[in-house]
Amino acid sequence: MVVISTFTEVEVAVAYRIFKSDRMNTWSYGIFEKSALNNLSLVAKKNNNTVGYVLLSSVLDESTIEEITVDIDERKKGIGRKLIQATFTQALRMQQQFIYLEVRFSNTPAIELYRSMGFELIGQRKNYYKAAREVDHVTYTNNKITPVAPRENAYIMKKVL
Ligand SMILES: CC(C)(COP(=O)(O)OP(=O)(O)OC[C@H]1O[C@@H](n2cnc3c(N)ncnc32)[C@H](O)[C@@H]1OP(=O)(O)O)[C@@H](O)C(=O)NCCC(=O)NCCS
Repeated sequence: MVVISTFTEVEVAVAYRIFKSDRMNTWSYGIFEKSALNNLSLVAKKNNNTVGYVLLSSVLDESTIEEITVDIDERKKGIGRKLIQATFTQALRMQQQFIYLEVRFSNTPAIELYRSMGFELIGQRKNYYKAAREVDHVTYTNNKITPVAPRENAYIMKKVL
C-alpha cells in the first residue's frame, strides 16, 4: 500500500538519493532538504519504504511543483499519479487555484503524466535546461576550440483546480 505524507528528516535522506540517481544537475542536499521540509512537499512510502516524492512551493494563490521523482524500480505503478493527486489536495487545503510546473521537452513520461492529470501547456522557456549530451558543437576562434554545451527547452504547464 502506498501512503503519501509530508516528510520526516529520515525520508528526506532517502528521497535525496532517489533524486540524485536520476538527475545530471543535482541540487545540494541543503537546498533539497529545505524544500522537502517546508510542510507542503510530499513523500510516497510503500511498505514503509520511501519510493518517491514531490517538492512543492507556494506563493499567494498558486503552488509550483518544483520536483517529482519516483524510484526507478517503482515507476509505472501509479505512484506518480498518486503524488500529483496529493498535490491537488495540498493546494486546495490552502485555498489555491493554480498549480504550475516546468518540464523538459524530451521528458515524455512526465509530460504524459501531467497531461493525464489535467495540466495544460501554457508556454515555453527556450534553452532552459542543460541537455543530456555533453557537447552540442564547438566554436573555433583565435586558434582556440571551445565546446558548447547543448540546452533544452522547457514547457510551462498549469493546472486549474
Ligand atoms: C515522471 C514520473 C514521476 C512518473 O511516475 P510514475 O509513478 O512512473 O507514473 P505513474 O505510474 O503514476 O503513471 C501515470 C501516467 O503517467 C504517464 N506515464 C508514466 N510513465 C510513462 C512512460 N514511461 N511513457 C509514457 N507515459 C508515461 C502515463 O500517462 C501514466 O498513465 P497510465 O499508467 O494509465 O498509462 C517518473 O517517470 C519519474 O520519476 N521520472 C524521472 C524524474 C522526472 O522526470 N521527473 C519529472 C521532472 S519535471
